[in-house]
Amino acid sequence: MNVIRDILVMQQTAESLRRSGRRLAVVPTMGALHGGHAELIRVARGHADSVITTIFVNPKQFGPAEDFDRYPRDLEGDTAKAAAAGSTIVFAPETSAMYAAGSATEVDPGRLGTVLEGASRPGHFRGVTTVVAKLFNITQPHLAVFGQKDAQQAVIIRRMIADLNFGIQLIVVPIVREPDGLAMSSRNAYLTPAQRKEAPVLSRALRRAEEIVRAGERRSGRIIGETSSVIRSGSSGRIDYVSVADGSTLEEIPALAPGMAVLISLAVRFGETRLIDNLTMQVP
Ligand code: PAJ
Repeated sequence: MNVIRDILVMQQTAESLRRSGRRLAVVPTMGALHGGHAELIRVARGHADSVITTIFVNPKQFGPAEDFDRYPRDLEGDTAKAAAAGSTIVFAPETSAMYAAGSATEVDPGRLGTVLEGASRPGHFRGVTTVVAKLFNITQPHLAVFGQKDAQQAVIIRRMIADLNFGIQLIVVPIVREPDGLAMSSRNAYLTPAQRKEAPVLSRALRRAEEIVRAGERRSGRIIGETSSVIRSGSSGRIDYVSVADGSTLEEIPALAPGMAVLISLAVRFGETRLIDNLTMQVP
């Protein structure tokens, strides 16, 4: 396992691997690696000779009242986990090098960045597209692996790859869950034991939504109502949003149409901790 901190060294290493015919994958992360990240790395390794796991807590994608300062950081532990999952390189740059004095250019994801999570977290996706564009340019990958856990992020990155002609193949990996259904997340560590016990209500609520859609419900209002009531009756979580949207445009829709890919997504606060989860399905 090769741990690289320097941007130029990373760029030169990637270029020389490409020249020698290796297929390169990148798995961008903010560290605090868990089973979800490990699955991304395993999938990447199945498609590539070299897997570069990037670990960078990106200040640009955190709002002023968000958890940038207390986001868990453990480069040594993360490096061991990345290696065990099949990563060949860890790239962990310094903030001062990623955003050098005078740096000004940002990547704007447009309307896709202002809906759903973007409405609750202004500027978040602009921070994500900016750092991911930089990571793509530094690591020069043939393919990139992202998680369905952040469904909107995956849609935005797909758009950015096409719009900015990155020529990178994108693989999106299904959500990895704890045995009780809670989607794995670095932020689960913030939950109190009581909140942790309640949190699987999110995946139960989404399963309920899927069930009523399969049983014929097509009205988004009813799907949102049912999902919200499972959350309210089963927990003390405060709902930020529950949304039914077109899976590719991310526009919220009043009703489902047969054959469409729908994204049912939600964000719920347990105390100070904000959790997200989602479900995509083809409407029968
Ligand atoms: P982070 O939250 O560390 O997530 C890194 C990648 O792991 C993302 O693609 C995310 O969707 C995926 N992931 C997280 N939990 C998952 C789970 N339970 N199942 C499947 N995949 C999961 O997302 C980010 O970092 C940042 O925004 C980043 C893209 C690195 C840019 O800073």
